[in-house]
Amino acid sequence: IDKGFNQTTNAIGCEELRLSIKDYIKRKYNLDYDHNTEITVTCGATEAMYDVISAMVNPGDEVIVFEPFFDIYVPAILMNHGKVKTVTLHGPNFCFDQQELENAFSKKTKMVILNTPHNPTGHVFKKDELEIVCDLVKKYDAYLVTDEVYEFLTFDAHVHIPPATIDGMRERTIMISSSGKTFGLTGWRTGWAITTPKLSNAIRLVHQNNTFSGPHPLQKAIGESFAKLDEYLLEYRKMYLRKRDILFNGLANLGFRPLKPQGTYFIMCPIRHMTDKSDIEFAKDLIVNKKVATIPPSAFYLNSNEGNDYIRFCFAKKDETLYQALENLSRL
Ligand SMILES: Cc1ncc(COP(=O)(O)O)c(C=O)c1O
Repeated sequence: IDKGFNQTTNAIGCEELRLSIKDYIKRKYNLDYDHNTEITVTCGATEAMYDVISAMVNPGDEVIVFEPFFDIYVPAILMNHGKVKTVTLHGPNFCFDQQELENAFSKKTKMVILNTPHNPTGHVFKKDELEIVCDLVKKYDAYLVTDEVYEFLTFDAHVHIPPATIDGMRERTIMISSSGKTFGLTGWRTGWAITTPKLSNAIRLVHQNNTFSGPHPLQKAIGESFAKLDEYLLEYRKMYLRKRDILFNGLANLGFRPLKPQGTYFIMCPIRHMTDKSDIEFAKDLIVNKKVATIPPSAFYLNSNEGNDYIRFCFAKKDETLYQALENLSRL
């Protein structure tokens, strides 16, 4: 702000940030994208997702969404008069059934939306799972929209694989990510969509007539932050691993049966052995009786009832907050 970067930036994002994005995508994933024609900076991954869906989905087009899903996809599809087809990621491993996925495809399939690492389940899609999705996308001449906002938040031996790296997928993939989760800057509302020049043009038409551009000084600062990405990520992973283990071990010691997340900062916890109540009622009870807020995952499902059997905890909190929550939960 003091350096004077306070006027509207280039609609596609300030050059410094687009160059930083181009650079990390090349270094981390060996993917080449042109920062002038293929990278568009938006107001968070949320706007990127809305722009991509608005640019590409025509009335009657079908969009395949894995459920549970992050809650912004379905409204954006419906606002564009698309049709949502869900495929369930079945617990406790949160993998899809290949036949169920194949059955969801049709001549009208325009795109598949895939979030990896996955909110709320913490599942990190493996190469063989991605290949099944990508083969079907190619077979049906469709597109793949990837929500990769937790790209750097994987644990243990789990590795994030951007689907655009799979053979024949670069030209069919729209990669979405943002600075929110990586730099802990969710309020800075800065994300991006990366794809071919042709698709980027269409996305930019929506973006330009929607928000036009994001905040210039924040884009500049995020662009600079990428210079320290590698050293920062060492601390970032260590910190979230510690928080995951505090909450995971604490919940297990209290008689919960938490499922260990492979990535993201969420823990899914089955509740059927503890209650007959719905996830919503159980989550309300925890707020009222224990002062602990969780998310009832049924909100992330459209067709399956599986969400009813879990609650979702989040460990992106101060350590003291996590310990306090565990202490509250221990008071019966
Ligand atoms: C899976 C997923 N996608 C997208 C977003 C939104 O990202 P942004 O804050 O960059 O709009 C979130 C935020 O919680 C998320 O969990």
